[in-house]
Parts: sequence; structure tokens; C-alpha cells
Amino acid sequence: MSDSRAIDARGVAKTFGEDELAVHALRGVDLQVERGEFIMLVGPSGSGKTTLLSIIGCVLSPTAGEVAIMGERVNDLAERELSALRRAHIGFIFQGYNLIDALSARDNVALGLRIRGVDRAGADAEAASALERVGLTARAKNKPSQLSGGEMQRVAIARALAGRPPLVLADEPTASLDAASGQWVTEMLREISEEQGATVLVVTHDARIFELAQRIVRIEDGAIQEQERAGRAQ
Ligand SMILES: Nc1ncnc2c1ncn2[C@@H]1O[C@H](COP(=O)(O)OP(=O)(O)OP(=O)(O)O)[C@@H](O)[C@H]1O
Ligand SMILES: [Mg+2]
Repeated sequence: MSDSRAIDARGVAKTFGEDELAVHALRGVDLQVERGEFIMLVGPSGSGKTTLLSIIGCVLSPTAGEVAIMGERVNDLAERELSALRRAHIGFIFQGYNLIDALSARDNVALGLRIRGVDRAGADAEAASALERVGLTARAKNKPSQLSGGEMQRVAIARALAGRPPLVLADEPTASLDAASGQWVTEMLREISEEQGATVLVVTHDARIFELAQRIVRIEDGAIQEQERAGRAQ
């Protein structure tokens, strides 16, 4: 098990809807990612990036193909087993943040840890440290409606990183950040991969951060077009 890949997707297809309304969001994607890799997934709007990330993150099931996450084949798992696998392995930064409006920034981050079985004091301490990592200590008690877009994005990042998941999936994590914050958020994700050995897959349109990737995977019209080794030497 320990030498298994972080992500092993083969022939993954996803069709939404049926007949003349069918949308072929993914058309046979193969993607192998080793543990500890820091990868960017790029491509035009509508090319299937969020769909692929959601399938890898076990929040959406493929129409065809095989997916293994951390050595575990996920196709046949029941919803309970999938949610256990998500809790154990995956930190997901969603494109629309998915924060809970009624909870403060700190409680949004702590909630994910409580669901993983961390006690309240431990969850609060870990949430505070995750918010510190993204530079939001001063806003910890604010609710999402009292935060800027970039601050909400950083809360979503803190929530995904709390508990140190071995696989971090980030959908446009720098979209509402200025150039400098986008750069340091990406550097932080890269550090997490280098220091904690986490596997990090970042969907992005943001050419300013490409140089930080170890590998760039390009997707167009639901199919992987090319993969290149990129950026800084490891
Ligand atoms: N739930 C859904 N029902 C129907 N069609 C969908 C659904 N989700 C996505 N699609 C379609 O699948 C295609 C791929 O969508 P996806 O969200 O994966 O694109 P994306 O590459 O993430 O785009 P963006 O860069 O705009 O976020 C699009 O044509 C989209 O309209
Ligand atoms: Mg998307």
C-alpha cells in the first residue's frame, strides 16, 4: 500500500444529462500522480477541470473508468465508505468556497476537524493555527458575510489544510487574491507538499503561479492534451 500512487485515474469519463442534452464533461482521462507531487491542472472554462477534481475528491462518481485514491479503488465504495475516505485523506478547496454563513471563520475551519473526530479544544487550537498560516488570525471571529472574497478564500484554504490531509485538491485557490497573496498562498501549498509530503493538485487559470508547479497537466474539451515538467527544479 505504501508505494501506491496518490491518484490513479484511468479512462475516466463523465456525462451529465441524457440524449440530446448530454454534456460529455470528461472523455477518457488518464492521470497518475505520485505521492508528494505538486501539480497544476490548467485549461479553458468548461474543459472539465472541476469535474475531474470532484471525481478525484470522491464527491462525484464517474460514468466510466477507474479511480484509485491512496491505493484504494473508489468505484465500488458506498457513500459511507467514500465519506470516510474523504475525511481520512482529502482536503478540498472548492471553487465557490462552500463556507457556512452562520459560523465564524474559526468555527468553519474547526467544523471539518470535529467531523473527523477531533475534540472541541483540539479542533479550536488547530483551526487557530490554520488561520494563522493563511494570515487571518485577526478575522477569526468574523462570519463569511463580514469577510472580503480573498479572505473567504483564505478561510476555505485553512479549512482544507487543517488536520494535514495527505491529498489537497484546490479549485482556483488564487482566483480572488491579488498577485502577492496568490503567490504566497501557492508557495504555502508547495511547502506543504515539500515538508509534509502531501500531494497537491491545483486547478488554475493563473499564469503568474505556473512556475511553482512541478508538473502542468493541460485539459481541453474533457481530454488531457499534454503534460509537461515545469517550473522550479525540485
Ligand atoms: N452538474 C452538471 N450538470 C450538467 N452539466 C454540467 C454539470 N457540471 C458541469 N457541467 C458541464 O460540464 C462541462 C465541464 O464543467 P467543469 O465545471 O468541469 O468545467 P471547468 O473546467 O471547471 O470550468 P471553469 O474554468 O469555468 O470552472 C461544462 O460544459 C459544464 O457546463
Ligand atoms: Mg471549474
